[in-house]
Amino acid sequence: MKLTLKTLFVTGPLLAVAAIAFAAPAAENWENHCAKCHGADGKGQTKVGKKLNIKDYTDAKVQAAMKDEEIIKATTEGISEKGKEKMKAYKDELSAAEIKDFVAYIRKFKG
Ligand code: HEC
Repeated sequence: MKLTLKTLFVTGPLLAVAAIAFAAPAAENWENHCAKCHGADGKGQTKVGKKLNIKDYTDAKVQAAMKDEEIIKATTEGISEKGKEKMKAYKDELSAAEIKDFVAYIRKFKG
């Protein structure tokens, strides 16, 4: 195929649409996978969140105590305490890129 300006204009948006279809935006993933426990607002004040004593991600102190790598590690591998699973691993459901996107998303809860 000869690469002309016209082909770029036609295929460019198509490629962008394909990329979005494969990787859901962090907001959507948060809503679908995380909000049940962590809350849509990141405060963790859901029924499950209160029971599990989930931290408030709008709290600057909580944010400061949490490293970017820890956000990625917790989401990729999950969290267990004394052999009991508190949060499951998401590595089979979400791509590494999608998990990485949560870092910026979670940081924004601080406001
Ligand atoms: C079944 C409830 C549940 C769901 C669903 C859940 N989490 Fe968690 N999450 C927890 C619990 C419990 C903790 C541990 C308590 C805490 O640190 O607040 C935790 C901790 C975390 C931490 C803190 C790690 C650290 O080192 O402090 C991050 C980041 C996190 N979750 C991200 C996510 C993301 C992203 C999703 C969605 C893909 C998600 N969680 C889904 C229950 C859940």
